[in-house]
Parts: sequence; C-alpha cells; structure tokens
Amino acid sequence: MLVDSFGRAHRDLRISVTDRCNFRCTYCMPEDGLVWVPRQDILSFEEIERLARVCVERFGFDSIRLTGGEPTVRAHLPVLVGKLVGLDVDLSMTTNGSALRTLAGPLRAAGLDRVNVSLDSLRPDRFAELTRRHELDTVLDGIDAALEAGFSPVKVNVVCMQGVNDDEVIDFATFGRERGVEVRFIEFMPLDADHTWTPVQVVPGERIVATIAAVYPLRALVRGSDPAEVFEYLDGGGRVGAIPSVTAPFCARCDRVRLTAEGRLRNCLFSVEETDLRSLLRDGGSDDDLAAAIAASVAAKGPGHQIGSVSFVQPPRTMSQIGG
Ligand code: 5AD
Ligand code: SF4
Repeated sequence: MLVDSFGRAHRDLRISVTDRCNFRCTYCMPEDGLVWVPRQDILSFEEIERLARVCVERFGFDSIRLTGGEPTVRAHLPVLVGKLVGLDVDLSMTTNGSALRTLAGPLRAAGLDRVNVSLDSLRPDRFAELTRRHELDTVLDGIDAALEAGFSPVKVNVVCMQGVNDDEVIDFATFGRERGVEVRFIEFMPLDADHTWTPVQVVPGERIVATIAAVYPLRALVRGSDPAEVFEYLDGGGRVGAIPSVTAPFCARCDRVRLTAEGRLRNCLFSVEETDLRSLLRDGGSDDDLAAAIAASVAAKGPGHQIGSVSFVQPPRTMSQIGG
C-alpha cells in the first residue's frame, strides 16, 4: 500500500498516453493547439507498462485509466491495453468518443474494461463552438459503438458551465435514460487554458441533481470510493451522477496519481511540482529506484486543492496536458 501523510491509500493510476488531441475544446486548448511534446519524449508502451507494473506489484494499485490529450490519437492503443491487461486491474479510458466507431471493438477485444466519453453539449452548433469541431454525430455514434462493443456501463462526462451548457441538464438526463448510459455532471474547475475561470461559472452539483430530480425522481446510492455522487432513477431509468469537484472536493479521499505523457508523476490535478520518472527509466534506474520516486511523490502530496482560498495557484498545465 502507498499511504500518504494524510492516511490516504493510493490505488488508482491515470496514464496520459499522449498530450495530443484532435479536438480543440475552448476551455482546454487554444485554437491552434498547444506545442506538442516531441515523439521521442513520450513514454513508449514498454516504459508505461514498466511503471504501471511497479505501481501494481509494489503498491497494490488496482485501477488504471488511460487518458490524454485524447488517448485514441496514440497509434496502436489496443497494443498498450494488451500489455496492461496482464496486470489484472480495472482498466478504463477517458475519451472524447470521436474514434470509438473504429476502436471500441479492438479495445474491448484487447481487454479494456470501461470507457468514459466526454461530451459537453447535445446541440450541434454549441458542440461545434465548444470543441471547434463539427463532430457531434461522430461522438454520438461512438457512444453507440461502445455500447455495441459490450462496454458496460458506458459513462458520459459533462462539464457543466453556467451560461454555457447549464440549460442542457435535463436534455442530458433524458439522453442518458434513453441510450442506457450513465451521465455524470462535473463542476468546472480552474484548469482552463486561458485562465478565465471564475467561481460564477461553476454550477453546483447539488443544483444539477435538484434540477434532474424535479423532472425524474431520484434516490441517492451509497457513495463509494468514486468521487461521483450517484443516483438511481426511481422509475428504473438507470443512473445519473454529479462530481462536485469544486463545491465538495473529493481530496480527503483521493486515491489517485497521474502520469503525464512525458513520464512525469503528479500527485494531484493541481500540483505545481512533478516527479520526472522518464529520466530514471532511461538512465537505467531499477524498479527499486522507480518505486522510491513514486513513494516520495505520494509522501509529499498535500491535503488537496484550495480553490476559493486566496493562496490558490492555478497550475500551468491545462487538463489536456494532465489527463483528467
Ligand atoms: N474542469 C472540469 N473538467 C474538465 N475537463 C477538462 N477541463 C476541465 C475543467 N477545467 C474534463 C474534460 C473531460 C475530462 C478529461 O476532464 O471535459 O471530461
Ligand atoms: Fe481534447 Fe479533451 Fe481537451 Fe477537448 S477537453 S481539447 S477533447 S483533451
């Protein structure tokens, strides 16, 4: 077990497999994209597998999530899944959904357990404005492809922003019920590319849940180790959730670390410091060296983000460079 100074046992590794993305979500990236990390600086599949193995074998990690950028932009992703399957963990991926029509089947066959699709609008014009891509239909078809490939449940993550898409809460709830996917509304966090985030843009999860419950009555399920507060529709229409990352942070129970595409370990979404594991890997470090560096990073983990306090510092990386 890898326990930090606040007693939190860590078991969840989030791996960014690329910093690149085929979308340009306005809150995440500038229109022209970011300066991509050069190919040789990105961890190879073998390097990723080795770090993941150390986390699992030395520290008992039981959950790995593949993220990006957009993970499906990385060539041969099913090959990486095939390597990680041997570790016998819960293996999942967060994707923008644009490549699932072709990749859902191969990823499922390779052993991926679950997928979460990020989708912030169901209206074609608004989707295009938010992502700078006219691909709403591609993503909706991708969600169908994930269901057809046998992923269950398929979750859809919606970043809810005041005055941007907060008028779509009921549409998304209805969508989830009809398609048989679990929609989860995430509070907008100060990780945006242009640093224009203000608390006014945050729609409290509680308000979202109340909005849904007024139309589709809900019952709360017991909260597990998942940051989402999950509800069940009383009429059997499935589940819906809220992730109140700002108004009710998960930090006190956080069990995650994040690995960036270039092999830096981050002990928090909001870290300003990172641990360079790639140098250790490429300079011939042993598994003991890697384990010690990972343990030191977790030992140095703070209590959590202080969004709202005067001392809060927004990290220089955006979500696409951290991986979500
Ligand atoms: N606040 C909350 N969620 C965000 N995401 C990206 N930026 C933010 C932010 N500032 C989401 C993406 C995707 C996941 C990887 O993180 O929309 O669902
Ligand atoms: Fe790409 Fe996700 Fe960032 Fe959108 S939020 S640009 S899909 S990495």
